[in-house]
Parts: sequence; structure tokens; C-alpha cells
Amino acid sequence: MNNTTVNKICVVTGTCSGIGQQIAYKLLRAGHYVIMIDKSHPNETISEMTRMKPKGFEFHLADLSDQKSIQSLAVILTEKHSSIDILVNNAGRHIVKRETSIDGFEMNFALNCLGTASLTLHLLDSLQRAPSGKIVNIASEAHRFPGKFNFDDINTEQEPMLYAYGKSKFGIILFTKALAKKLEGSSVTVNAVCPGLVSTNIFQNFLPRWLASLFGSLSYIGLMSTAKDGAKMPVKLCCDPAYNTVSGNFYGSHALLKYLSVNRKTNTVEDQKRFFNLCRSIIDQDSIDEQPAPLGVARDISS
Ligand SMILES: NC(=O)c1ccc[n+]([C@@H]2O[C@H](COP(=O)([O-])OP(=O)(O)OC[C@H]3O[C@@H](n4cnc5c(N)ncnc54)[C@H](OP(=O)(O)O)[C@@H]3O)[C@@H](O)[C@H]2O)c1
Repeated sequence: MNNTTVNKICVVTGTCSGIGQQIAYKLLRAGHYVIMIDKSHPNETISEMTRMKPKGFEFHLADLSDQKSIQSLAVILTEKHSSIDILVNNAGRHIVKRETSIDGFEMNFALNCLGTASLTLHLLDSLQRAPSGKIVNIASEAHRFPGKFNFDDINTEQEPMLYAYGKSKFGIILFTKALAKKLEGSSVTVNAVCPGLVSTNIFQNFLPRWLASLFGSLSYIGLMSTAKDGAKMPVKLCCDPAYNTVSGNFYGSHALLKYLSVNRKTNTVEDQKRFFNLCRSIIDQDSIDEQPAPLGVARDISS
């Protein structure tokens, strides 16, 4: 890679479609080097990016709901890149019909929470080696329903599955705030953002096909945002110097929505720490059994 032509090294997850695809395009267009992480081959994204800037990106296959897959990915990335400037944890699903991850967790929690936490912690050293590392976590206004993370039911076995997505996005906000506290005084910032109500494939996960298609067309009449619009605020957090020193914030998509929240009581510093420690203990446990490495340092699991 020629450093004179490359600005920042950016990792973006979930770039096959939707908001992540548009974030990848915007970062590439802004002159950055983009590392895409996907569970399936991002054919369409790669064709478009090859047209835009053929040498400005790479991609890796990884299942971000699978801890071992994340560890292997982190090893490859840290070996290949001495530092990482930007990490956008965008990959996510909205699941209402129970699915269990390979590690045995409810899938919204496994992908949206543990995937975000694990990739972030495994890449933390690389982000700290950058002059000004930035982590942007894609959360959702859906975190307001149910407006808390129930630590007694992390796999949503007692609560209705309809809560599982919002709960996982609440978890992302707790994690973001706890990590920001830990990173105080360092060169790395971490923030969470809701991209708005955006017309993407995400609705196909939980709505009947006809309703998902209807949602798809709502952007044409302005009732939903396009993926391009949804990518704006996350990219602003990555690239706008105005956010260089801001950390631990959640950027919602509509000012009025904050009045729906009861989260002041359930988003306490204790809850934030507790959630961070919960993720960390699961990630540590799932690391290769013999020698738990300090988080932020990836180990070669191929041997
Ligand atoms: N759309 C909205 O209104 C909205 C609102 C608030 C928040 N969000 C959040 O925005 C983010 C992007 O969603 P989107 O709306 O753009 O949906 P999308 O078009 O379905 O994009 C999701 C991306 O995540 C990838 N992904 C899914 N499971 C994965 C896994 N196990 N490992 C790696 N990658 C995986 C998908 O890859 P495949 O195509 O291979 O599955 C896809 O590239 C999500 O975190 C979502 O929760 C969306």
C-alpha cells in the first residue's frame, strides 16, 4: 500500500448492502483505505469500488456472530496493518424468530452486542496506535424499547423475542459509554449513532416479504431515508474534525424520541460497567482456552 495516496485505514463491517455499503463508498470516495468485513462476498460493493478506486480497499469474510471467526479476523488484520484509524461496527440483524449463534447465544445479542464488543476489543491496540482512532457503533432508536438491558435474561428466554433487537442495541450503547470511560485520556474516541429509519434489507429479516418490499419503496416517497442518507451521520463521526474529541455519546435520529426513553434509570454507570464486563468475560471465555490474552491483542488461533 502506498501511504502517500492513502489517508486513513478504515474497517467497516456489513458492507454487502444497505448503510454499511454506503459508508464504505463514502469513506473510499473521501480518499481513505477501506477494509470491508462481511459474512458473504460483497460482490456488488466490490464491483462499484473497483470502478471508483481499484487499489483503495480489501475485504475479508468473517461471521461476526462467531467469536472464533472474529479472533481469526483480528489476527489477520493486526498482522497486515500496523494501525487502524477508524472502525465502524455496522453489521447487524433484526431478528424476531429465535436463532442461536454457534457460541450458544441468542442471535441479536451474539451479533449486535458481542460481535461489536469483540471486534472492537481485539482491534483496540491497533486503534490506539493510530494518531486519532475512532470507533463508531451503529445502534438504533429501537434501544428505547424495552429501554433497558435485562442482565438476568441475556438470551431473551423469558422476555418476548420482540424485545431482543432493541435490547441488543441498548447493549451497544452501554458498551460504548463504558468503553469511552476506559479510553479517557487516550487518543481513541467511541460513539454510537442511529442512522434513522432507512430502507434496507434489514426488514426482510423480520417482516413478511410484501411488507418488506413496501418498506423498500417508502424511501421513494420520502417516508424513509435511503441508505445513502443513513450513512451520513456515521461518516460525519468518522471524518468531521468537529467530532475529534467527542466520546461516549449516542447520536439519535430524531430529537423528540429522547422523550420516549426511560433509559436514565437503566443506563447508569453501573449498568454500563456491568455490560462491558459481561461482554468481556464471554469474549475471554471464548478465547482459546489455554492462555487468555489481554483484550486488544489478537492471537493466532490457526496453530
Ligand atoms: N435500516 C434501518 O432502519 C436501521 C435503523 C437503525 C439501525 N440500523 C442498523 O444499521 C446497521 C446496518 O443495517 P442495514 O439497515 O444497512 O441492513 P442490511 O442491508 O441488512 O445490512 C446488514 C449488513 O450486515 C451484514 N451481516 C449480517 N449478519 C452478519 C454476520 N453474522 N457477520 C458479518 N456480517 C453480517 C449483512 O451481510 P449479509 O447481506 O451477508 O447478511 C449486511 O451486509 C445494522 O446494525 C442495523 O441494526 C438500521
